[in-house]
Amino acid sequence: MSLQLNRTSFGDAANKGNTLLRAEAESLFNEWVINPRLQLHMKQVAYLMTCWAKEKENLDEENQWQWEMAGLLHDADWDQWPDQHCKKIIEELEKRNVDPGIIHAIASHGPNHFGVEPETKMDKMLYAFDELSGLIHAYSLMRPGGYDGMELKGVKKRLKEKSFAANVSREEINDACNRAGISLDDIINFIISRQVLVS
Ligand SMILES: [Fe+2]
Ligand SMILES: [Fe+2]
Repeated sequence: MSLQLNRTSFGDAANKGNTLLRAEAESLFNEWVINPRLQLHMKQVAYLMTCWAKEKENLDEENQWQWEMAGLLHDADWDQWPDQHCKKIIEELEKRNVDPGIIHAIASHGPNHFGVEPETKMDKMLYAFDELSGLIHAYSLMRPGGYDGMELKGVKKRLKEKSFAANVSREEINDACNRAGISLDDIINFIISRQVLVS
């Protein structure tokens, strides 16, 4: 299911720097997202985004929160309004005068689905973490130790196995890595090393 947004501009430039308070973002999250598996996915992506912003981009706390917020809310409308994904959350954040960069990241988290190209590093990393973290999480669930002791080669084996997490698009994963300019191995290693904390 996918919805072309048919727009390329999101939010209002005058709102640059505006974020929701953490409590506001969390209450929106809890109100809109009921499915615990989807909640976990969104929290994992949020965590990866904030870790990347801090460790790889050396961004300050304010910017780390922007990245985290994009991750935390990127699928907020998927649970209850799948036919409006991700239009509904975009419009909600526009209504709340959120920074256009955060809204653009959410709008471009699936360029093949929504028709919006990832432009900034935040956009690209959200796109890159989204599908790949889902596949790695599925892999963790079939391992006795979860993320513990997980290795790059194990993840790559699952990636090659078309029947494993078959709904995860391998093409999108490769496309996302290419756009971000980061090797698949590096992103997998990053996810393996961080995600153990939120599983
Ligand atoms: Fe999504
Ligand atoms: Fe997602």
